[in-house]
Amino acid sequence: MKPIQTILCIGAGYVGGPTMVVMADRCPEYRFLVTDINADRLRAWQSGNPPIYEPGLQEILARVLNRNLFFTPDADTAIEEADLIFVSVNTPTKTFGQGAGMAADLQYWEKTARQIKARARTPKIVVEKSTVPVRTAEAMERILNTGGGPRIEVLSNPEFLAEGTAIRDLLEPDRVLIGGPETPNGREAMEALATIYAHWVPRERILTMDVWSSELAKLAANAFLAQRISSINALTGLCEATGADITRVAQAVGLDRRIGPRFLEAGVGFGGSCFQKDVLNLVYLCEAQGFPEAAHYWRQVVVMNLEQRRRFVRQIVSRLFNTLVDKRIALFGFAFKPDTGDTRESPAIAICRQLVEERAQVVVTDPQALPNAQRDLADLGTAVLFEPDPYRAAEGAHAIALVTAWSEYRRLDYRRIFERMVQPAFLFDGRNALDHRRLFEIGFNVCPTGKAALLHS
Ligand code: NAD
Ligand code: UGA
Repeated sequence: MKPIQTILCIGAGYVGGPTMVVMADRCPEYRFLVTDINADRLRAWQSGNPPIYEPGLQEILARVLNRNLFFTPDADTAIEEADLIFVSVNTPTKTFGQGAGMAADLQYWEKTARQIKARARTPKIVVEKSTVPVRTAEAMERILNTGGGPRIEVLSNPEFLAEGTAIRDLLEPDRVLIGGPETPNGREAMEALATIYAHWVPRERILTMDVWSSELAKLAANAFLAQRISSINALTGLCEATGADITRVAQAVGLDRRIGPRFLEAGVGFGGSCFQKDVLNLVYLCEAQGFPEAAHYWRQVVVMNLEQRRRFVRQIVSRLFNTLVDKRIALFGFAFKPDTGDTRESPAIAICRQLVEERAQVVVTDPQALPNAQRDLADLGTAVLFEPDPYRAAEGAHAIALVTAWSEYRRLDYRRIFERMVQPAFLFDGRNALDHRRLFEIGFNVCPTGKAALLHS
């Protein structure tokens, strides 16, 4: 295998873009190319103004753009030139046919593999960075190596970054996982990929294993994280009903070193493009392989998550005297988590829709996600308003519903907000992000998640 000089990434999204920016920064001797079928996205990256919001990204992009990182719409030439190709295209849940609503839709992946096959003139390493069902690499291997042509090694290298902390996660990963075939060529390819990461990741954190374990480990990691969130959320109703405090319960549970404190924050549940998709993918795999109880077990993680959003809205309706008709509700936050503009599968979408079903007038505010929110809710017309300024969003509102824990929302002048709201004013804290006692003292009726409400009589 010839030494690696040119690295291509197909897919310039939330994973492909930041990953290549960080790699280019840490590995100046390689040339990095990035391509995508979305020309607008490529233009944004190439202009130095990324199409996604991610803290710290723009600064590193400025260092590497046109130095050793280039965004190009010419995928065919880029494929010909590349020695190693990351595939980071989307793998959403299938919406049609067999496995609809559960299995991963692999059409983008397969199209990419066929395009690589058609253009490859020299041996290459193809790296699956997208999250894919177990044994996808095997299928790709067959597409890429059937019918002659140069030898192509397929590796699995799942990505563990989280949005909002992508740069830190990429610079200091807990582990880098590389799966590959136990053949001389396979081992050589794994070593070539490990060498790239070793530019900045300590060798002991670079794990190599067989392809299928690597593919499954990615699904398992997301399923475990999602399960922790559903587990803590499954206790919130009980806490509210009995007067226990979910934050204290989480603290006591998390101090057990076998459990640990992270990912035990109760709230309106998880959103994002991956947790639900990957858990459902795991459910589908368990079912398809004949393990219905395991499938049922993992499915409940998603069932609990969806229930948590509905419960939040039920609580709003019940506290606001059982009717929301013509009441103004200010939704604080729309992104699926703070520090991103991404709204894919954000709990805010379902919450907004349920509030509108109750005929509320919803005003959405968010520091980064309003353009996406407008697209997500375009069909709701004037039932939803979009307001960048949280003070104006809350003006004349009967209630504030906080669904994204942006740090900005902790610093607002809630006395000023309270004075301009309809009385009695309510605040539903779907992320337990605010100082509830202080808000109560200002005059709000405060309804946190998983703890007793603070109500003025
Ligand atoms: P994304 O939708 O932001 O980006 C995917 C990009 O691939 C899009 O820009 C799309 O236009 C492009 N694309 C699709 N088909 C193409 C083709 N044939 N040729 C060229 N480009 C093509 O998705 P993402 O969030 O970056 O996720 C990508 C993969 O990484 C998914 O499998 C996801 O599960 C996984 N993942 C995502 C995250 C995350 O935080 N978003 C983290 C870890 C893993
Ligand atoms: C998640 C994983 O954390 C990443 O490791 C993984 O690479 C990625 O999915 C992926 O495969 O796409 P991400 O979805 O970007 O990353 O963000 P998280 O920080 O995991 O948050 C997901 C959701 O869970 C958010 O809606 C967040 O608000 C919610 N959450 C998180 C809770 O409700 N409680 C918590 O304690 C933690």
